[in-house]
Amino acid sequence: MWLPSALLLSFLVFTVSADTCPYGFTLLTTNKCVKLITDVAKHGDASANCSAYGGHLISIHSAIDNNAYRNLASISTTPYWLGLKCSLSGSPQSCLWDDQSGNAGQYNGFANGYPIVDVGSCVYSPTQGTFAGKWLSGDCNTMTLNFICEASANTPVTDTCSFQFNGNCYFPTLSSLSEQEAQFACQQECANLASIHSLEENTYIQTLFTTNAPTYIRIGAQTNNQNVNSWIDGTTWNYANIGYQNSNLGTCMSMSLTNDIVSAGKWISSKCDTSVPFVCKRPIGAQCQSTAGPTLAPGQCNGPQFFDNSGTFYSPSWPYSYIGQQNPCSYVLDTPVGSFAQVQFPVMNLDNQASIAIYSRIEDTTPIAVLEGNSASNQWYTSTTNTMKVVFRPCVSNCPTDGGVYRWQANFKPSNDVTQAPPVTVTPNPNNPSGCNSTILVTPGYITSPNYPQLYPNFLECLYHLSTSGGYRINLDFGAIDTEQCCDNIVVRDGPLLGSQVLGIVSGSWPAHSKIYKSTSNSMLVSFTTDASGQGTGFSGTFTAY
Ligand SMILES: *[C@@H]1O[C@H](CO)[C@@H](O)[C@H](O)[C@H]1NC(C)=O
Ligand SMILES: *[C@@H]1O[C@H](CO)[C@@H](O)[C@H](O)[C@H]1NC(C)=O
Repeated sequence: MWLPSALLLSFLVFTVSADTCPYGFTLLTTNKCVKLITDVAKHGDASANCSAYGGHLISIHSAIDNNAYRNLASISTTPYWLGLKCSLSGSPQSCLWDDQSGNAGQYNGFANGYPIVDVGSCVYSPTQGTFAGKWLSGDCNTMTLNFICEASANTPVTDTCSFQFNGNCYFPTLSSLSEQEAQFACQQECANLASIHSLEENTYIQTLFTTNAPTYIRIGAQTNNQNVNSWIDGTTWNYANIGYQNSNLGTCMSMSLTNDIVSAGKWISSKCDTSVPFVCKRPIGAQCQSTAGPTLAPGQCNGPQFFDNSGTFYSPSWPYSYIGQQNPCSYVLDTPVGSFAQVQFPVMNLDNQASIAIYSRIEDTTPIAVLEGNSASNQWYTSTTNTMKVVFRPCVSNCPTDGGVYRWQANFKPSNDVTQAPPVTVTPNPNNPSGCNSTILVTPGYITSPNYPQLYPNFLECLYHLSTSGGYRINLDFGAIDTEQCCDNIVVRDGPLLGSQVLGIVSGSWPAHSKIYKSTSNSMLVSFTTDASGQGTGFSGTFTAY
């Protein structure tokens, strides 16, 4: 029996489950997701980092798990922390697991004579040598080691991104960029140009561009020279809504937002180097260390540069003169949501044709300031939003030949007071206790027919938009229902639209909890319509996330 279970385990160790594990975690056993971090930390910092991922340091309750962790960690020679702390030497019972799963009395992997609390109350395990996989005592405050974070499978991850649908965050961007530039901009959000996998998702993306809608937006579809389509984010090509495909028109794709050459929502081949607005997408909860780090002082600047949070950037060729830079250079700065982006130019020596314009938003065409000459100062220019665009226009002809050093340095940062993103409206609104036709209602919440538990009016038409965050789904549980059987109907839809799939149509009398509906994504639409006659007390319903 040993061989099959060992094989099974090693298979599971390498199975990445994007569906059930938080981003970056690997499924270790059916409900344990793990992530090895080889950036050494003290025990307390390691523990805090695991919490930041929605998990905790590993807690080990069997020899099989102990082996699996050792295998996972053995890619590094540095030992790893366990989420265990002891208070009495020689007593595994005195060691408590961080995840509150009890003490190490039932199972422990201590080396002979351990724990030894005089050495330290924390516990670690080497990956090599005679003690590999054995548990040893270590000083929590001085030792810095690798660590493994563990999170439960299906731990719903929360995310503050503004546009969420079915487990993903979307970033609609009105600025026009080529495909390469757009993908680079997406990567700054740990995202990719969006892939699309269902009609619902296609519709959702269309609705992201309702104000100032451009004619076309770029999506992450690419066509190779065998005419095979794929998604830039590597996901499977399992849905398509192509209106017209012809690689003579280009090997990238755009979605039409109007009934133009193809109808709204359809995709059409387009040139990759054409600049169009675009939409990025990433899984909810995805975090990244900006690996595609910006070039702070490019030799030449031929495309927009993207910078997050705060930092310093310089004119092309810094510390040398930028003379010779042929193109304007744009810098897109963004600071955390809720803050305002600020920039200052403590070094500035521009040639007499050059300028630096500062815009509040990337799509703005009227600058909030234009700087010229030698206007170095510590003054901060503040955006009205958490983004800012700085455009540097150097001289292109008749540039100074005096050999002088023309250059500038900029610092940017968020305004000091970072405020929380405004909370989403939570039900019930005191002016509209039923929730009928209110803005989106977020779980947990309660809806009723108007006037409930009094009689509802005739000629009623109510919509209830139920929503929950991220990867959660909605459970709607009706209390007692009383409507006119023939004609006053409650319709529950699986999704945000009137066209979404109907989960149920209810009328007449039903006892409490006999009608329960579950959505398959994070939104649900309930409608209630009544005709000219016949009334009842209507309904109440509690909706929660699951
Ligand atoms: C832990 O998290 C902090 C802040 O989130 C970060 O600065 C630090 O580098 C992380 N340490 C490790 C070892 O990952
Ligand atoms: C709810 O909205 C619909 C559609 O906009 C409208 O026809 C209806 O009269 C509204 N119902 C109420 C009670 O305001």
